[in-house]
Amino acid sequence: MRNILDNKRPTWTSKYAFIITAIGSAVGLGNIWRFPYVMGQNGGAIFLAVYILLISTICFIPLMNELYIGKITKKECVGAYESINKNFKFLGALNPVTGILIASFYFIVGGWIINYIYKSIIASPIANYDDYFSTFIQMPVYPCILTLGFLFICIFLTARGIKNGIEAANKVLMPLLAVILIFLVIISVNLPNASAGLAYMFEPDFSKLNSHMILAALGQAFFTLSIGMGALLTYGSYIKEDKNLVKSVYTIILSDTAFAILAGIMIFPAVFSFNMEPNSGAGLVFVTLPKIFSQIPCGNVISCAFFVLLFCAAVTSGISILEGPCATMIERFKISRIKACAILFGIITVIAIPATLSFGVLDGIKIFDKTIFDFLDFITSNLMLPLNALFLCLISGWYLKIKGNHIIKNKILAKSFDIGLRYVVPAALICLVVMGLR
Ligand code: PHE
Repeated sequence: MRNILDNKRPTWTSKYAFIITAIGSAVGLGNIWRFPYVMGQNGGAIFLAVYILLISTICFIPLMNELYIGKITKKECVGAYESINKNFKFLGALNPVTGILIASFYFIVGGWIINYIYKSIIASPIANYDDYFSTFIQMPVYPCILTLGFLFICIFLTARGIKNGIEAANKVLMPLLAVILIFLVIISVNLPNASAGLAYMFEPDFSKLNSHMILAALGQAFFTLSIGMGALLTYGSYIKEDKNLVKSVYTIILSDTAFAILAGIMIFPAVFSFNMEPNSGAGLVFVTLPKIFSQIPCGNVISCAFFVLLFCAAVTSGISILEGPCATMIERFKISRIKACAILFGIITVIAIPATLSFGVLDGIKIFDKTIFDFLDFITSNLMLPLNALFLCLISGWYLKIKGNHIIKNKILAKSFDIGLRYVVPAALICLVVMGLR
């Protein structure tokens, strides 16, 4: 394999910068929006136990693999795959395509967040929260403007480059996110009857253990760690030197899990304290929580803090979603970062606007029986992310024959890595794809 070090490529200014941006990519809507509702729908504590088991074992391997391939090839996705074998170029190209498709629905939720921040600031009273949310997302113009606004913020930061845009945003937003999260956790656990929410999170009911739930935990773990769309491969390619990548990977996994658990501790005590349902699905954050905020003293300040938290998480992940396609365009087409970002803005707008409208005026348009938004979520989360991760594991394990002891000093861990990379993770990913198709 060629290992070309291109001096003109940017690199992280420090190891801390790399780790915080990788954590910024991982910690996103997946932790604060998706994790609590998937956990709520899959039995609470038992889901958490399975999730922790999977994220600390199986997920370590594809995460490490992506960063490692980025680090040794020092190329964006297409170039990285191409430098392994010319014929793999098209598999590599699936990564930025996945990124563009994920951006096209992820940024819609980003737009909703901006609206809820605005609503909290002006403290506008809402009569019926269920109706408000569904009426708002069905509007023809306003949500589109918000989607584009959110996209613009992320594109702007990406266009500023690795140091002044991506690193700078993460260095400010991630600590802010941690502070707000801890503040909200303290408020939540002090609400009356908060212990019922904590029991729901930490006292497992083994009767809820089933294969569907295990796959839901696996899917959530891959999504939250940003595995399978080349974001981490691209971030890995900017690493100058990291003598202990294993430690960095565990730092990323631990931090991501801590954020997800804290998000649960923030949400479930509040939900139980107000006798609401923990399994209300995607609306948990946009319907149930605003209802709760309206009933607590200084609710609009807390609501504002919560949605700013969600915004920070979404922006740091959003820029990582954009960086993969952006780096590919810069390096493949030899264009400037600004130009690449402008083109990306155009492409994502063309897909994201119909997807935003698919809650309202375009809800009649169905692709495989799904609205445009649901279809984008479905093909990316259920198919493209696991497939991309699968291809990369197969390439590393069976074609490059990467061995655990090339990367990991601990012998037992290195051996487990070998078996995981070749057999366990591909099998788990195939199950995920098959289940996703049903
Ligand atoms: N990990 C991010 C989250 O939890 C989402 C994401 C997926 C980001 C894939 C990049 C790549 O919200």
